[in-house]
Amino acid sequence: MKNRKMLIAFSLVLALLFSACTGTVPEPEENRDVLDTNTAEPNSAEKDQTVEPQDSEETASYVLPAYDDSVPSLCETYGDVLKIGAAVNTDQLRETSDFYQVVTKHYNTFVTENEMKPMYLNPSEGDFFFDAADRFVEFGESVGATLRGHTLIWHSQVPDWWFGGENGERATREQLLARMETYIHTVVSRYQGRIHTWDVVNEVISDTGNGIRRDNEGSQYASIIGDLDGDGEDYDYIEQAFYFARAADPDAQLIINDYSLESDPAKLNAFYDVVKALLEKGVPIDGAGIQAHIQIGYPVVELFEAAIEKLAELKEINPDFVVQITELDVSIFDWNDQSTTKEITPELQKKFAERYADLFEMFRRQAEKGNLDMVVTWGVYDGRSWLDNYPVEGRTNAPLLFDRNMMTKPAFWGVIDRDLSPEAIAELE
Ligand code: G3I
Repeated sequence: MKNRKMLIAFSLVLALLFSACTGTVPEPEENRDVLDTNTAEPNSAEKDQTVEPQDSEETASYVLPAYDDSVPSLCETYGDVLKIGAAVNTDQLRETSDFYQVVTKHYNTFVTENEMKPMYLNPSEGDFFFDAADRFVEFGESVGATLRGHTLIWHSQVPDWWFGGENGERATREQLLARMETYIHTVVSRYQGRIHTWDVVNEVISDTGNGIRRDNEGSQYASIIGDLDGDGEDYDYIEQAFYFARAADPDAQLIINDYSLESDPAKLNAFYDVVKALLEKGVPIDGAGIQAHIQIGYPVVELFEAAIEKLAELKEINPDFVVQITELDVSIFDWNDQSTTKEITPELQKKFAERYADLFEMFRRQAEKGNLDMVVTWGVYDGRSWLDNYPVEGRTNAPLLFDRNMMTKPAFWGVIDRDLSPEAIAELE
C-alpha cells in the first residue's frame, strides 16, 4: 500500500502544478459533463474528488475515474522515454466532457480513429471535407500534443470513385497516380508543420508472407500502377506515395504502417525486405508502424520484442528511422474464440494486467535502447473500441486500460508500475 500512497501524493502535487503532459489547466469539476456513452453512469469519485487519500489508507482505491487528480498520468510516467498516444474521435472531444479530461491527462499524442481516412476527407472527386480533421488538429494544438495523421494510402475505407475509370473500367495508372498526388498534396500540405507524423501507406504487405498485398487481398494499387521504373518490382505506388508526402511537408515524419508484424514472422520478414529495398533506393521512409492489435495470450512478448529489434536494424540504412506502436489493444479473447462475452473475473484481470505490464516493460526497454519512440493505443476506454464488433459481431470486449465507465483497471496500474497491479486486483477480490 505504501507505493500507492506515495504515488497518490506525488500525483496530487503534480496535478496542482499542471495538468499532465499536454500542459492544460484542469476544468473546474462543476463544468464537467458526464461521460458520453450509453453505458456510463456518473460515479462517486466524479462527485467527491476532495478526499485526501494520502492520509487515509482505507480510502486508497485503485478503481478511480481515469481523470481523478490522484491517478498518475500515463504520459508523465513515461516522460521523455516514450510518447504515449491514443486514437480518438472528434465527437468525443467536447472540452466539458470527462473524456476530454482523461485524454488530456494521460496522452501527449493523438490520432483520429477514422475521420482522416480518404472516404471521409474526399468522398467524391474534387470535394474535400476537412471539418472533423480541422477540429482534431485544433484540439491537438490547443493541448500541445503530437499528432499522427492516419492514413493516406490504404486499400480499405477509400471512396467508391477512387479506383474507377471511364465507362465502368478501372482507373488507369496515370489516373490513380494523379489522384494519389492530388490527395496527398491537398491533405498533407493543409496540415504542414501541424501533423507531426503521417501513416503514408497502411497495410500494404500480404498476409501470405509473400511480398506485397495485391488484388487477391483487396488492393488494386500494384496491379493498376505496377512497375514504373522498370526495376522488376510492381509496388512503385508505395515509393510515389512517400515522394508525394515528402514534397507536401518536407519535415513531417513518414511512416509505413501494418498489422501482425509483432506476431507473424513471415509477414515481418516480407515487410522488412520491402522497406529495406525502398530505403536502399532512397525512398524517404522515416519509420515503421507496428499496429499491434494483439490478444491476451498471443504473441509472446519475446516475439513482439524481436520484431521491434529487427525493424530498428533499418537505422543502419536511415539513421533517423523510428519504430512506433501505432494501434495497440489487447483483446481478452483468443483469436479463434467465437464467443461474444467473457466474464471479467479477478483471474482474467490479473492475466490482462500482467500482459500489459510485460508489454510496457518491454516498450520502455526498447525505448531506452533507442528502438521505439511512441506507443499509441487504439482507443481510450472499453466503452468505445472497434473490438466490440470484430472479429465477432455483437461481442463485448475489454481491450484497453480504462473500463467501460472510464475507471482505472488493474492493467492501468501495472503500466504505471507493475508492483501496483496485485494490490489493484486484491481490491477487486
Ligand atoms: O460512419 C458510418 C455510419 O454512418 C454508419 O451508421 C455506421 C453503421 O455501421 O458505420 C459507420 O462507419 C463505420 C466506421 O468505422 C466509423 O464508425 C464502419 O461501419 C466501420 O467498419 C468502421 O470501422 C473502422 C475500421 O477501421 C474500418 O476498417 C474502425 O472504427 C476503426 O477502428 C478501424 O481502424 C483500423 C485502422 O484504421 C487500421 N488498422 C486496423 C484498425 C482496426 O480495424
